[in-house]
Amino acid sequence: MPDRLLDDEALESSAVVANSAMNRERQLAGVNSYTRELGFNPLDWVTARIGQSPQTTIGWLDLCCGTGRCLLQAADTLARDRLDHLVTIVGVDLVDFFDPTPAPGGALQLTCASITSWSPPRRFDLITCVHGLHYLGDKLAVLTNVASWLTDDGRFSADLDLDSIRLADGRPAGRKLASALREAGFAIDTRHRRIGRNGPGVVSLPYTYLGADDRAGPNYTGQPAVNSYYAETHPPRS
Ligand SMILES: C[S@@+](CC[C@H](N)C(=O)[O-])C[C@H]1O[C@@H](n2cnc3c(N)ncnc32)[C@H](O)[C@@H]1O
Repeated sequence: MPDRLLDDEALESSAVVANSAMNRERQLAGVNSYTRELGFNPLDWVTARIGQSPQTTIGWLDLCCGTGRCLLQAADTLARDRLDHLVTIVGVDLVDFFDPTPAPGGALQLTCASITSWSPPRRFDLITCVHGLHYLGDKLAVLTNVASWLTDDGRFSADLDLDSIRLADGRPAGRKLASALREAGFAIDTRHRRIGRNGPGVVSLPYTYLGADDRAGPNYTGQPAVNSYYAETHPPRS
C-alpha cells in the first residue's frame, strides 16, 4: 500500500482529479462519444423508455458528466422532438466546466457537486458514468449508492477499471471483487472494462475503504487515474 492515502477532501483538490487535459467533452454519438463508450446510445434508450412509460417522467442521471456536452445534445434533440417535458436529465460533476446551457425549464439540470456526497432528488431510469469512476476515492460506495438510485426497471452503465481497486497489500482486488459485485447484482464486462446493472438493490460489499492513491499513474485510458484501497471484511454469516 502507498505510504500516503488521501481522503475525499484531499483527493478532490488533487491535480489528477482537476487535470485540465481530461477528456470531458464526449458527444452523444460518434467517435468521441457516450454511445461508443457505453456500447449503446443513451438517448435512444431514454426515448424507447418514454414509449414504454408515457405517464411518467423518465430520469437520466449522468455521474461525472464533464462539460455536459452529451447531455446538452440529448436535451436539444428532446426539445426539438417536443419530448423534453417527459424527461429529466441530471448531470453532476465536481468542477463547473459546463458548456453553456439553455434557459432553465428544459429537460437538463447540470449540478456542480462531488458525487461522493451528493444526494439524488429522485430515482433514475438510466444512470451513466463515462470514465468518471477512475477519479473517485470510494468507488464501491458510489456503486452501492447507484444501486439504490435506480427505478425498478432502471439501467446503470459505467466504465470501470477493476485494477484500480486494490487491497491493503497493493494487489488488485481482482476476481474475488468481481464475484462479490456479480453476487450483488452487477454485470461485469471485463473485455470492455464496464460495469452495469438492471434494477435497484440493497448492496453490501465485504470491503472497507481505506483511502485513495492519486499517484497511481496512467490507467488503460492513458490518463493519470486514482487507485482506491480497501480492506477485505468477512460477510456476515447468514
Ligand atoms: C474523464 S472526465 C469524463 C467526463 C464525461 N463523462 C465525458 O466522458 O466527457 C471525468 C470527470 O469526472 C469528474 N469527477 C472527478 N471526481 C468527481 C467527483 N468526486 N464527483 C463528481 N465528478 C467528479 C471530473 O471533474 C471530470 O469531469
